[in-house]
Amino acid sequence: METKVWKVDPQFPDPKAISEAAEIIRQGGLIAFPTETVYGLGANALDENAVLKIFAAKERPPWDPLIVHICDLTMLEHLVDEPPENFHKLAELFMPGPLTVVMWKKANVPDTVTAGLPTVAVRMPNHNVALALIKASGVPIAAPSANKFGRPSPTTAEHVMYDLAGRIDGILDAGPTQVGVESTVLDLTKIPPVILRPGGVSKEALEKVLGEVLVATKPLEVETGLPSPGMMPRHYAPSVPVILTDGNPSELTAAIEILKSQGYDPKQIGVLMPSGWLTGVEGIVTFDWGSWGNWDELAQKLFDGIRWLEVQKISVIVAPLPPPIGLGLAIRDRLTKAAAPKDEFSSGGEKSNHKCQGKTR
Ligand code: TXA
Ligand code: MG
Repeated sequence: METKVWKVDPQFPDPKAISEAAEIIRQGGLIAFPTETVYGLGANALDENAVLKIFAAKERPPWDPLIVHICDLTMLEHLVDEPPENFHKLAELFMPGPLTVVMWKKANVPDTVTAGLPTVAVRMPNHNVALALIKASGVPIAAPSANKFGRPSPTTAEHVMYDLAGRIDGILDAGPTQVGVESTVLDLTKIPPVILRPGGVSKEALEKVLGEVLVATKPLEVETGLPSPGMMPRHYAPSVPVILTDGNPSELTAAIEILKSQGYDPKQIGVLMPSGWLTGVEGIVTFDWGSWGNWDELAQKLFDGIRWLEVQKISVIVAPLPPPIGLGLAIRDRLTKAAAPKDEFSSGGEKSNHKCQGKTR
């Protein structure tokens, strides 16, 4: 199939493009669209056959549930009977915004959307194109990130086309996304609530509203049954191995020197390089990641950097790990999963068999 591309203004999208894309959603097709976090791959959440096409296009396993996107709170009536009390406080502050809330689902939400779980994940994206598309479609839109399963998420339309061209009906291209890492997934069926995936809304911000919030660290902590892929050891992985170091220039340099001593030519080594950091190693391939300490900027450029490096004919990517502060927590999560070795829970990428001794991790 040919994938139609509509170039649209992120603030004021052309109504004709939106109505053409919405018509495809209503007819059961697949449209990729921008949100403030990453691009999503959307289908009518209430149409089981349309939702199945998402899994086929992404090569996503059926046990991995999808987020359902809404444009206003009245759409919730399709999805949940009665949101819990603390939902309304969250909605006031973070909807629209990069927060996904897991709640008990209504029976009419197809099992394909929730992978058979009794819960549904709901989010109102903070992007005019996404909101206009959902509104014009008149239905909630199920949308995972618009990448092949296990690959780094797409933050530009070009990233989407790289993974999914010819597999989807169309894409609304509104340029790069702002936040750059996916939404925070918060399970509100638990007391205290549990962050299943750190993301665009920080734990600190949630705790101001909710009091204590836990962060799930292992798949076993998801008691709903199946592992949540946001929690899988390996995910977001490029086609080359990723090596992580502590977050300072000397540790980064030490890791690069170890790779050289293992026989890597510098031009095979790609680095997510914070602005102004120097390693003194000539000839390595660097992506200018942004200012260390500005975690918002680093989050925005993270997946673009990984995807850019992987097509530079390098053999390994090295990156320093930010501290778990603000969006630093989400960046750490994505990088750690991109670097995890391939095993039975894994998805995407090549086997990561490089172990640096000593100070790298
Ligand atoms: O920012 C985002 O969240 C993007 C944009 C497109 O909205 N979407 C996204 O979707 O990242 P996806 O499918 O790549 O990740 C959704 C995450 C997965 O980790 C999935 O397991 C979890 O949400 N999830 C979905 N429904 C769930 C449920 N009922 N219970 C627990 N986890 C759920
Ligand atoms: Mg994803």
